[in-house]
Amino acid sequence: MTPIPAEDAGDGDGKAWRLPRLDEVENHAPTRIDTSIPHTARIYDYLLGGKNNFAVDRAAADAIVATIPDLPVTLQLNRLFLRRSVRYAARRGIRQFLDIGTGIPTAGNTHEAAHEIAPDARVAYVDNDPIVLVHGRALMTDGGPGRTTFTQADLRSPKDILSSPQVLEVIDFGEPVALMLVAILHFIKDDENPREIIAELRAALPSGSMLLMSHASFDANPNQGRAGADGWKNASAEMNMRSYDDILAMFDGFDLVEPGLRTHWNPDAEPEEPLDAVENVWGYGAVGIKP
Ligand SMILES: C[S@@+](CC[C@H](N)C(=O)[O-])C[C@H]1O[C@@H](n2cnc3c(N)ncnc32)[C@H](O)[C@@H]1O
Repeated sequence: MTPIPAEDAGDGDGKAWRLPRLDEVENHAPTRIDTSIPHTARIYDYLLGGKNNFAVDRAAADAIVATIPDLPVTLQLNRLFLRRSVRYAARRGIRQFLDIGTGIPTAGNTHEAAHEIAPDARVAYVDNDPIVLVHGRALMTDGGPGRTTFTQADLRSPKDILSSPQVLEVIDFGEPVALMLVAILHFIKDDENPREIIAELRAALPSGSMLLMSHASFDANPNQGRAGADGWKNASAEMNMRSYDDILAMFDGFDLVEPGLRTHWNPDAEPEEPLDAVENVWGYGAVGIKP
């Protein structure tokens, strides 16, 4: 791990942005950002057009896009899924969101989508990458009544998430919760038992809770997908694209709402966007309800 002074961070395009100084951040925990290997959150930020990334991340992202040129469009579609699924849950009364694998803040974050419907909705953001926490704490509040907290924790240790004081500050596990695993489970390997991780989280949720989940898939073209995923091999987490059936099985214990697991998910017939017409999508999303 390499400590970086704030003024050196983010060599995006030479514009004046920097990581907040630690004294500008509520909690001083994330003090070190590793710039020696590409990081998933920063690759994703770059592919979405963000500036919170480093040369090593951009090189990895460029290599992946050379193999899967239409991946960035899938990532935008995934953000559309995130916003639509959060609004869907909020319209049906959910007021608390546990968003694991938050990502670096970008347009249309979870609390913003939730507050469009319910200004009092609360969000517990969780990510294992310190850069997400630093930017999140600095940027992800909108001054409304709905509170947000941030926890640095790993999805592979569900107990740490469920017992985190910052999570418990805004999530009451006696009331329905939207558990969000949006574009994160493909960073969990088969031998790390993603379905057991979900089952452990599900056990903590009361009936009426929802699972909002999207996942990368190679179904569009398995060989091309596997070659593209190779680009993540040396990153902070490798990419494990899965099939429609494997992803569907991850909703075990939840009843899928219409229209089920889809590349394009729009259950409330929200206004069509150009992204809704995209073909060759590298992933699926769905919402399930715990009976
Ligand atoms: C592709 S981004 C998704 C961001 C956001 N959920 C979205 O869909 O736009 C994946 C995020 O998951 C985080 N992540 C990856 N593996 C993780 C793990 N084991 N535990 C917690 N966070 C993880 C990464 O740091 C990154 O911020």
